[in-house]
Amino acid sequence: MNPSDIDRLVREAKGAKNNAIAPYSKFTVGAAIMTGKGNIYHGCNIENHSLMLSSCAERAALINALVDGERKFKAIAIVSGDKGYCFPCGACRQMLAEFAPEIDIYLTSGKGIEKFTISELLPHQFKKK
Ligand code: THU
Repeated sequence: MNPSDIDRLVREAKGAKNNAIAPYSKFTVGAAIMTGKGNIYHGCNIENHSLMLSSCAERAALINALVDGERKFKAIAIVSGDKGYCFPCGACRQMLAEFAPEIDIYLTSGKGIEKFTISELLPHQFKKK
């Protein structure tokens, strides 16, 4: 990904964060995923009265793309209101590992943007042989 695509993806993730529904945690997260075709899908976290039903921004973005038939993924940007990086939770890492094993994961913080891979974030991942 070239720097302008990365900046664009981060901007899209910031936009998606504005749609987060997080009245309980007050921790809003946005994600934007770029597919192999260059399409961008958005996700935000959505919390629910029944707290265990809350869903994460990353999985929402991935699922939105999968629902549209996308199967190849280049990159995902993840943005939160926090100063530090918002690392994807374990469940999101597993989903990304399964559906987007080659994906570049861009996290933002007050200090800038850093790239991670799935194997860095989820070594020894579960795979059905
Ligand atoms: N959350 C995400 O959306 N993505 C992450 O990577 C970590 C956590 C959400 C879930 C919940 O709505 C809120 O952040 C606080 O945990």
